[in-house]
Amino acid sequence: MILGVGVSFNPMDPEFVADPYPTYRRLRDDDPVHQSPLGFWVLTRYDDVVAALRDPRLAKEAIAAFVAARLGTTPSAGTTLSMLDRDPPDHTRLRGLVSKAFTPRVVEGLRPRIQSIVDGLLARVARARSMDLIEDFAYPIPVVVICEMLGVPVEDHERFKGWGLDLARGLDAVLLPPDSGVAERSLAARRALAEYFRGLIATRRASPRGDLLSALIAAEEAGDKLNEDELLATCILLLIAGHETTVNLIGNGTLALLRHPEQLRRLREEPGLIGTAVEELLRYDGPVQRTARIPSMDLTIGGREIRKGEMVMPFIGAADRDPAQFADPDRLDIGRSENRHIAFGWGIHFCLGAPLARVEGQIALNTLVQKLPELALATDRPEYRQSLTLRGLKTLPVTF
Ligand code: HEM
Repeated sequence: MILGVGVSFNPMDPEFVADPYPTYRRLRDDDPVHQSPLGFWVLTRYDDVVAALRDPRLAKEAIAAFVAARLGTTPSAGTTLSMLDRDPPDHTRLRGLVSKAFTPRVVEGLRPRIQSIVDGLLARVARARSMDLIEDFAYPIPVVVICEMLGVPVEDHERFKGWGLDLARGLDAVLLPPDSGVAERSLAARRALAEYFRGLIATRRASPRGDLLSALIAAEEAGDKLNEDELLATCILLLIAGHETTVNLIGNGTLALLRHPEQLRRLREEPGLIGTAVEELLRYDGPVQRTARIPSMDLTIGGREIRKGEMVMPFIGAADRDPAQFADPDRLDIGRSENRHIAFGWGIHFCLGAPLARVEGQIALNTLVQKLPELALATDRPEYRQSLTLRGLKTLPVTF
């Protein structure tokens, strides 16, 4: 569709899904606080996105009712909202219960285990000298790690893989026609996951272990800290966040390196750059492209008046390519030192799993680059998953 001063923004266009960055640039230049005829505001400037994410007037809990009204359903029927979708004080309480498990110090202790998972996956494909980097490498790493942390039997993952995909797709429900079926499938997946966790919680209640699930059950049993529905919502959020994001850091990151052979060579020669390299890959082509907020009162962003109850979408992917914030933003520079990217968000909902995702990304990419000197793309046009919220590849065939 053509809008205003010739800015075209159709999030369902396959061209946009394959490469959203030219559209972001046009929006940022010509209409940075864009009122989409699809029924929401699109923010593409770094300063506006950061300001929105740190503004307590732009809240989360109203989103459920907004989406339900769009789809003609009851707000979050049959489910409780997780911390990601809650406002203080509930957000603060729920986040506090699990934050200790994800501190940089705890996550550093996981390095040897993550390295052995990564080495094991490469050993399995060593003879074939080819793999689907997504299926065989990027996906299993975060899945095994989060299952082990939570205490979910990793052999069950085939069961919740499909549910994870349906839930991830459900993040786009508000952008799709109400009859797309996406919202219904997402709700069904959430219910199936809740059922799955109910069974597991019963087992762990009877014989607790040293895992995060047992710790959460203990918090629930202690009384006023979290109720059973919140316990389920927390487990589902951690399992799915651990499934649907880091895979795309590893997938998008590998693709970006393969498309910039001089940067790949640089990383191979200077493995010490892996820290800044992962930050740059997060900025350059991040797994989470956008989020959403709803103002609790009328307010002004970039000179445009936004009414209470309207939906605002801060586009992280666009902010992270804003030339007002990043020098030469479309250039991949794995040594970039000025890099206050917002791939993990900003403010009170800043990604709880960021330290874990960083360590997983660093170990996975560094091992790949160092151990596979012949690594090469086996396709010209990798296909992206159809999603406006999460950016990731369906498959990435490589040889080595
Ligand atoms: C590269 C991988 C990842 C990226 C790019 C990412 C990105 C994000 C972003 C942008 C948010 C904020 C959303 C908003 O403001 O609406 C967020 C929140 C969150 N992420 Fe991540 N994430 C990643 C990995 C993980 C992992 C591995 C976990 C845990 C296992 C995780 C757990 C969470 C949780 C629990 C929240 C909600 C925090 C809150 O509401 O206070 N994430 N993530």
